[in-house]
Amino acid sequence: MACREIYERTSIRFYKNKPIDDKIEKLIEAAIRAPTASGLENWIFVVFKSEGARKKLHELILRGHIEYYREKSRVEKLKKKFEEGMFFAPCYIGVFIERKGILSKEYEELELKWAIESAAMAIQNLMLKAVELKLGTCYIGVANFPGIEEEIKEMASLKDCFLVGLISVGYPEEKPEPRKRRKSIEEVIKWV
Ligand SMILES: Cc1cc2nc3c(=O)[nH]c(=O)nc-3n(C[C@H](O)[C@H](O)[C@H](O)COP(=O)(O)O)c2cc1C
Repeated sequence: MACREIYERTSIRFYKNKPIDDKIEKLIEAAIRAPTASGLENWIFVVFKSEGARKKLHELILRGHIEYYREKSRVEKLKKKFEEGMFFAPCYIGVFIERKGILSKEYEELELKWAIESAAMAIQNLMLKAVELKLGTCYIGVANFPGIEEEIKEMASLKDCFLVGLISVGYPEEKPEPRKRRKSIEEVIKWV
């Protein structure tokens, strides 16, 4: 197997109430080894670990998921899971990018896309390093819902930046069981 962590990683949504402070820099060290368009490294990793910030993020993540699911019965189930501790992590890492480029204005959009792609690769590195360190992670895309993203940017004092992803990190409450893929190799591959 090329890289054990690739096959062991899976999204973890329940965490042990145990600090991970000694592991955080190791995660970021791995993250910044990702390729970065034009060598810009215009990513910023915001570590939310105070009790106040975590509680606020937990509320925002619930709000985002309610927005996502909408359907009343699913929302009730979701609220219950959040009360049981779903997504309450000892640490959240917000991956932001500064909107800067080196090309002319006509390529602004392309450079933004490149920066997002670079940050997404950094996130994957971080997630795989987490597996090596016996930690679990989850990408919280609902953090980008309008209204929610703005509040997270304000918490980070990064109003002019773009939030690529919010990642919850902590020791998994249960043994991680990687999920099967719905699509086979044959379905996703195209030979030209
Ligand atoms: C860009 C992105 C956004 C995601 N957003 C959420 C989210 O808001 N909430 C959530 O519970 N999982 C989220 N996930 C996790 C996916 O649901 C998960 O990766 C997928 O179901 C496959 O499961 P696995 O990660 O365990 O292999 C997100 C994943 C990605 C890549």
